Amino acid sequence: MSEYVKIFDTTLRDGEQSPGASMNVEEKLTIARQLAKLGVDVIEAGFAFSSPGDFEAIQRISNEVEGPVICSLARAKPEDIDRAWDALKGAPRPRIHTFISTSDIHLTYQFRITRDEALKRAVDMVGMAKGYVDDVEFSPMDASRSEPSYLYEVIEAVIKAGATTVNIPDTVGYAIPHEFGVLINDIKMKVPNIGKAVISTHCHNDLGLAVANSLSAVVNGARQIECTINGIGERAGNASLEEVVMILKTRKDAMDLDTRIVTENIYPTSRLVSSITGIILQPNKAIVGDNAFAHESGIHQDGLLKDKMTYEIMKPESIGISQSTLVLGKHSGRHAFRERLKELGYDLKDDSLNKAFERFKVLADQKKEVFDEDIEAIVADEVLRIELQEKYKLINLNVCSGTEVVPTAELEIMVGKKCIKEKGQGDGPVDAVYKTIATITKTKSILMKYSVNAITGGTDAQGEVTVRLREGDHIVLGQGAHTDIIVASAKAYINALNKLEYKKMKRKERLI
Ligand code: KIV
Ligand code: ZN
Repeated sequence: MSEYVKIFDTTLRDGEQSPGASMNVEEKLTIARQLAKLGVDVIEAGFAFSSPGDFEAIQRISNEVEGPVICSLARAKPEDIDRAWDALKGAPRPRIHTFISTSDIHLTYQFRITRDEALKRAVDMVGMAKGYVDDVEFSPMDASRSEPSYLYEVIEAVIKAGATTVNIPDTVGYAIPHEFGVLINDIKMKVPNIGKAVISTHCHNDLGLAVANSLSAVVNGARQIECTINGIGERAGNASLEEVVMILKTRKDAMDLDTRIVTENIYPTSRLVSSITGIILQPNKAIVGDNAFAHESGIHQDGLLKDKMTYEIMKPESIGISQSTLVLGKHSGRHAFRERLKELGYDLKDDSLNKAFERFKVLADQKKEVFDEDIEAIVADEVLRIELQEKYKLINLNVCSGTEVVPTAELEIMVGKKCIKEKGQGDGPVDAVYKTIATITKTKSILMKYSVNAITGGTDAQGEVTVRLREGDHIVLGQGAHTDIIVASAKAYINALNKLEYKKMKRKERLI
């Protein structure tokens, strides 16, 4: 029987360290629920000590998300371990993941401590974590640049202190596959008590080798891979979950290893993470990019029509991309809509379903064809919107623009219970709309990013607009999807302003 490799998802912790990917508590909870459906073994829900927001997200995920082990990161410091445990208390299966660097570069220049001091802190903090939970993971940060004999000594000592998983990070993405595989094999051979712990890998993608290094590690005995959806993470990111999982599945003949991932949920999860973080995928991204199953050349199309095996090594349905491009139209009912959502991996509660269905009907009236991507955009937009209590709501929008006129926007927005009408001008229609919204809401925020993505092809495509706003130390992303790009822009801006209000309210609540 083949062995299986645990999938440890760190989208909500390392993934959130991608520039601009910060998520609020509701967004993290939405992703965590989807990760549970995807079948990941462990969710690293955050770094409890790092911020009140991370603490709250870990706490709510621990209390509300069933299935996976829920984990918090903690530096090798008593206050971090205490805080991690406080956040994780409600989880049926909590894990504390503590770490300290072991490379001389980090110890000398960053931590300014000796090897002996680092070893002592690692052992003490694993022991302290063990006082709270059975499941303790330890990471010797920058392991791939650490002196091997010292690394083995630390690993042996933390296992003795109770670590049940030892994670070997290639923190700066420096390793190459053969060398990383040898390191894992040497750990297996030279650490006498290694049989008492699971060996894990955590590879960064600075040289584009995160996935290759992770695979080399499992071939050499690692049995947990730390990875993120769409490969997001610090700098060039982490090993991409969808890639490692689909490689193990597609090339089971070569590695004979399984995962417990429900691969049909990969694509919806990838879309959800992209729409929440605002990080848009390159079209040629393996597995989940727009072109991953698109065949352009005549020779390839000819082969495919004769037999899919000629040019497709995976079935699109196996990752949750539906075969049919046309899914639903304006005559489709709620039942068909709910069934389609289920196929796409979304099981919505009644109030969310009703709102999403209303939006679908409006869209179906505007578009000839409604695609899966349109439906996913509605769900991502609507589900998250329901969770927020919206202070601002777009009621009406009219824009006048062209070659001979000054772009002018007229808007009606509900601010709390009051409807405010305003007219404004700008350098273009979006600028006019944004200036008018800013006047109505009196926002002090600064627009840091505005991007448009056509979700589906054709001139009647739904456009998805993402904006990033900053006010003080609050940074939020807002999204809006609509067939009219000006309306999508207004919705994205208003969505971001609602999130800002939510963050400010939460901050106030904490201060009271
Ligand atoms: O990259 C890294 O070394 C990490 C550790 C905290 C595991 O993220
Ligand atoms: Zn990392």
